[in-house]
Amino acid sequence: MQSTTLRRNIFQRLFGICATKQPSDEGCWTFKNGKIVVDLARVPELVRVNGAIRLEAKNLPERILVIQGDDGQYNAFQNRCTHAKRRLDPMPGAQQVQCCSIMKSIFDYKGKYVSGPAKGDIQIYPVIVDNGKLVITL
Ligand code: FES
Repeated sequence: MQSTTLRRNIFQRLFGICATKQPSDEGCWTFKNGKIVVDLARVPELVRVNGAIRLEAKNLPERILVIQGDDGQYNAFQNRCTHAKRRLDPMPGAQQVQCCSIMKSIFDYKGKYVSGPAKGDIQIYPVIVDNGKLVITL
């Protein structure tokens, strides 16, 4: 059984260092006309349940967290906690994501606020799988 505890030490929490990394293959995704397209064949991080990547770039209007959820479905979130804008990480087994800061605000897969000092919900984005590609509409 998977744990819902996200292991982050006190320093990682203090400095807001999230567990989720940017994809190892930087060229695995593009952003054009409001759509992010991720080539799943180039993202080993997403082949397993609770695998995750974060997408960040100057031309991207928002930081995005992409996870393969507990249910095997892909989910895309605004990667910005509504408390103090820290990044989020998946919480294996809980169908939730958690802020990497000390205060650990939690949101569900629909972006709804669950707990912590966050001031509200986070944005989620529709994701479809099309011919081996993830298409995320911002
Ligand atoms: S920034 Fe997320 S709980 Fe403070």
